[in-house]
Amino acid sequence: MSEPIPALPCYLNGEISTVRDAKVSVLDRGFIFGDGVYEVIPVYDGVMLRGREHFERLQRSMDEIRLENPHAVDEWLGLVDKLLAHHPGNQSVYIQVTRGVPTKRDHALPKGLTPTVFMMCYPLASPSREQVENGVACVTARDFRWEKCHIKSTSLLGNVLARQLSADVGATETILLRDGFLTEASASNVFVVKDGVVAAPPRDNLILLGITYDLLVRLAAEGTVKLEIRPIPEAELRAADEVWLTSSTKEVLAVTQLDGKPVGDGRPGAVFRRMHALYQEHKAGLRSRAVAA
Ligand code: PDD
Repeated sequence: MSEPIPALPCYLNGEISTVRDAKVSVLDRGFIFGDGVYEVIPVYDGVMLRGREHFERLQRSMDEIRLENPHAVDEWLGLVDKLLAHHPGNQSVYIQVTRGVPTKRDHALPKGLTPTVFMMCYPLASPSREQVENGVACVTARDFRWEKCHIKSTSLLGNVLARQLSADVGATETILLRDGFLTEASASNVFVVKDGVVAAPPRDNLILLGITYDLLVRLAAEGTVKLEIRPIPEAELRAADEVWLTSSTKEVLAVTQLDGKPVGDGRPGAVFRRMHALYQEHKAGLRSRAVAA
């Protein structure tokens, strides 16, 4: 039997409700077509990490799917703070906007709908000490998703099926290859390191441009870690000294096993440890930067 849904406060269309009680129409285009976009924002001790950047990306996703944004960025930030008042500590905020509820099912975009806006929080599951110190195992697969992976769409069946390939063998992520090049993983971006130089795949339509990806690129530049953004052939992934996953929830995590083989010497590498330290420092400064702002 499945567990009862907890009565955790959430936000639906202007009201605070609970995830047990909040209800959406069966005709909602998010339910019928996966016609919506979303964001996941990490919150440390009540302060969003790069909240503004997440809402700027939400705007880009909405522009791509021709959905009018019901809120300006500052309004969004205020709404999240309202919900966070019910959820102290470290949280993951999930935000979803769908095209709304038409009167019938029709693929073409209906005019004049009010988007459905939903937000919920759950405790942020940051990587465990064990994961940080030992790294994680991943598998690879062909990237069989569509060609608009830069949209943070709620249509996630491709990502879900990709993720399951790693879940089936007890691995943390599925790293995807398209036409012989690294793209990303099912719910994370991927970086590789060779001879002390970090490389990341291009910011194009074949990956979701992670907020964490962008933050890492910035932290690398500030920390004088050499980093290149360019196409990464499969052979380079397989011969890398280090492979990392990044995402809002995984932060930066070393991949120490790929398809059952060790990555480099099978331990998180020196460049990872440097990058992880820079990331933790950035996180630790969040509250003081928020107070100063
Ligand atoms: N996933 N690529 C994909 C396909 C993702 O789903 C994600 C994030 C990322 C990393 O993006 P960011 O650094 O902005 O979190 C890259 C979120 C966490 C999720 O779907 O739960």
